[in-house]
Amino acid sequence: MSVLTVNLAENSYDILIGSGLLPALGQRCADVGLSSRVAVITNPTVNAIYGGIARSSLAEAGFAVTVIEIPDGEEYKSAATLSAVYDALIEAGLDRRSCIVALGGGVVGDLAGFAAATYLRGIPFVQVPTTLLAQVDSSVGGKTAIDHPRGKNLIGAFYQPRLVLIDVETLSTLPDREYRAGLAEVIKYGVAIDLPFFEFLELHAEDIIARDPGCLEVVIRRCCEIKAHVVELDEKESGLRAVLNFGHTLGHAFETVAGYRELVHGEAVALGMVLAARISAGLGHCSAADVERVTTLITRLGLRTVPPEAERVRLLDAVMTDKKSRNGSISFICNQGIGNFAVEQLLPEKMLTLSGLEV
Ligand SMILES: NC(=O)c1ccc[n+]([C@@H]2O[C@H](COP(=O)([O-])OP(=O)(O)OC[C@H]3O[C@@H](n4cnc5c(N)ncnc54)[C@H](O)[C@@H]3O)[C@@H](O)[C@H]2O)c1
Ligand SMILES: [Zn+2]
Repeated sequence: MSVLTVNLAENSYDILIGSGLLPALGQRCADVGLSSRVAVITNPTVNAIYGGIARSSLAEAGFAVTVIEIPDGEEYKSAATLSAVYDALIEAGLDRRSCIVALGGGVVGDLAGFAAATYLRGIPFVQVPTTLLAQVDSSVGGKTAIDHPRGKNLIGAFYQPRLVLIDVETLSTLPDREYRAGLAEVIKYGVAIDLPFFEFLELHAEDIIARDPGCLEVVIRRCCEIKAHVVELDEKESGLRAVLNFGHTLGHAFETVAGYRELVHGEAVALGMVLAARISAGLGHCSAADVERVTTLITRLGLRTVPPEAERVRLLDAVMTDKKSRNGSISFICNQGIGNFAVEQLLPEKMLTLSGLEV
């Protein structure tokens, strides 16, 4: 098992990463000083596979456990679901000493985290992420949120968990498409921040596709280390943390234009990274060979690199709606070679032209 500490003064916490950690969840929660009541927030899909293990582990460690199910799907990361969760928390008698355990992917983690941040002005919570995306990205860093009909993640809070417990074995049941989507975020860390990690991914692409637990532990650990480090330097996203948006500007635009069903988030990010690499080459930040190398790794890890057809105006519109623009230009994260980044102020028109998109 690997233990990483996220150092945020009084909000510091550990991330535990290993195979077969879930059966020890209760003990691990007790180890960080939690006791009494716990509400496990999860969805029917995850509850059916892992709910029993989580529940009995917590009960054995002396917790009074309530399981709260929310429906499966991004559309339920909503105010209506949150309201139902508050009802269930009150019904179960959770008080300030109680805690919330988020068992599931990013949807469960974001909503349960926001519930924990706001219920009784904040009660402790523990993240038990079960998707690759949640394990390498959303469970670390303390961003919690629900969606609003006008946009994703518009209502939320920065609220750090007390503990993140990552059992890589839970990935064995993750649908292939979700797994590959999570890999996009993994690749992101390599391209924008860490060349040796990018090289590791190139070297172990087959093991990663095969979901080799040993290899996954190394991969997830490195991603969490990078994310934790970035968050330590910029907890509330005033600057550096923007690097984590590499590939996301055009990725989000395609996600919006193509619709959330045609492209899941990670698939859109993979496309966004290919285009970001081309833009970076166009601005002299990296070579054509770097673009090729990034594209090849994305392909080898099972993600598409050719965007769906989209109208130029709709893409521009999506980019402008998504990003705060400064004099019409937006902050764009480029890769500097592979393993470093640079920030450019770019006009969206120029961005599209440099991306080589035929739109
Ligand atoms: N807070 C942050 O910093 C942050 C960062 C990135 C993304 N996010 C958010 O994360 C969300 C996306 O998260 P996601 O990609 O994990 O999606 P998700 O939570 O919808 O999970 C994807 C699917 O996998 C299923 N699932 C989860 N674990 C499983 C397992 N072990 N076995 C089988 N099925 C399993 C889920 O039931 C769901 O159907 C978005 O709402 C996004 O906004 C937040
Ligand atoms: Zn992302």
